[in-house]
Amino acid sequence: MDSPYSPGFGARPAVLVGRESQLARAEATLTRVANSHAAASSALVLTGARGLGKTVTLGVIAETAEDRGFVTATVAFDSVSDNVQLLAGRIAEAIAPLEAKAARASQTWTRIRQRLAGLSVEINAGVVKITSSGREPAEQRSGAGALQRQVLADLLSGAACLAKEHERPGLAVLLDELQEASREQLVVIANAVQDALRVGAGAPLVIFAAGLPETPERVMAAASFTERFDFRGLGRLDADAAERALLEPANRVGVTWDIKAAATIVQAAGGSPYLIQRLGDEAWLLADPRRGDHIGVDSAETAIAEVRDNLAGGMFRGRWAKATPMERAFMIAVAQVVDEEGIAQTRHITAVTGRSTPQWSRVRGDLIDKGLVESTGTGTLRFTMPGFAEFARSRVDAPWLWDNIRSGLTLRAQPLTHRGLDPVPGSSAGAHELQVPDHEADSE
Ligand SMILES: Nc1ncnc2c1ncn2[C@@H]1O[C@H](COP(=O)(O)OP(=O)(O)OP(=O)(O)O)[C@@H](O)[C@H]1O
Ligand SMILES: [Mg+2]
Repeated sequence: MDSPYSPGFGARPAVLVGRESQLARAEATLTRVANSHAAASSALVLTGARGLGKTVTLGVIAETAEDRGFVTATVAFDSVSDNVQLLAGRIAEAIAPLEAKAARASQTWTRIRQRLAGLSVEINAGVVKITSSGREPAEQRSGAGALQRQVLADLLSGAACLAKEHERPGLAVLLDELQEASREQLVVIANAVQDALRVGAGAPLVIFAAGLPETPERVMAAASFTERFDFRGLGRLDADAAERALLEPANRVGVTWDIKAAATIVQAAGGSPYLIQRLGDEAWLLADPRRGDHIGVDSAETAIAEVRDNLAGGMFRGRWAKATPMERAFMIAVAQVVDEEGIAQTRHITAVTGRSTPQWSRVRGDLIDKGLVESTGTGTLRFTMPGFAEFARSRVDAPWLWDNIRSGLTLRAQPLTHRGLDPVPGSSAGAHELQVPDHEADSE
């Protein structure tokens, strides 16, 4: 039988758990817009670290909007595109089918065409064409941003009006990977969204967006007046939700989990929906169950070991490679001081590194922006991915460590206990000394 799990980024899970409140909010907004024929009062922005389900949650919202008849435009920003144009192009694609149905060129159409042209996008007989990639140098002169903002705001409202003219409840725009837009683009987009939502009456527009945890700061810095953004964090799954995400997809196809095996996986996943899918899938492949079968502890444990190796060789390694030496040093320090729950105290990081908090604060901020660590309250933080602490501990290459070691200082860290994907160490009694790979120490 095929695995009922969906272990890829953006891959829709068979059962989406633990996001009831965000979905209820989105549905309420859709209902209000459909009922009032006016723009939503705010844009719902989901924020959270990688793998927490922003994309799939947006996907479910998009589907709900479509089911209710909304015209929907979904776009994922990226760091190389002109995201303003990308968004305009998606809106054009979303409304293109309406053009075919238009008896004659309405005023709204004329307005939309003009706005699209202003952003170098053409729509003709339902076909969307980008007429020039990127902006012309002349348009980059100061003031171009303000103009683009106005054009985009008008386009958003115009497209929403058009949806209404075609007896649709409105236009739903979904923006993923918000943090990828450059500051300049974000200024245009965030302000245009503010303006279009403010217009309100007559333009039934609703905006849903998602981005990494840094998104609220970036959006607020881009648009000074952001009362129309409703930021909602997506957190890790609690144990009940994680268990449902693991059990339900299997149960639906007549396969059950040994309760201990399920508990092992839920613990190893540490509330990460991504890991639930990865581990569930791996255990499924190992157990290769048929209807009526039971997935046992052996499959679960082997799956955990395999996924751990796989992450260390792939995703964790990639993230590590992109980090600067200072970021790595900081992550090693975090990895050294995390407690049972994977939480590190800032003061312990200061103690173990001999550097003060202000010296670390930029590094810490950069790592939060990259989605590698997250704050869990005042003076505490943790890695966003369970198992990353163990990985970081295996990569001791921070320059300050050598200095400390050379000067004879012994760093003592928390005992290595079983945390998420971390392997259970053989003897974990008492404090454990920092492991320094011999060859790396020698090469200094
Ligand atoms: N609520 C959930 N219940 C069950 N599985 C989920 C849930 N949310 C996400 N997943 C699974 O987690 C994985 C990651 O989801 P998704 O790609 O949406 O995360 P993301 O937050 O968009 O990550 P990124 O920041 O890297 O884009 C997917 O395999 C998805 O199926
Ligand atoms: Mg995503």
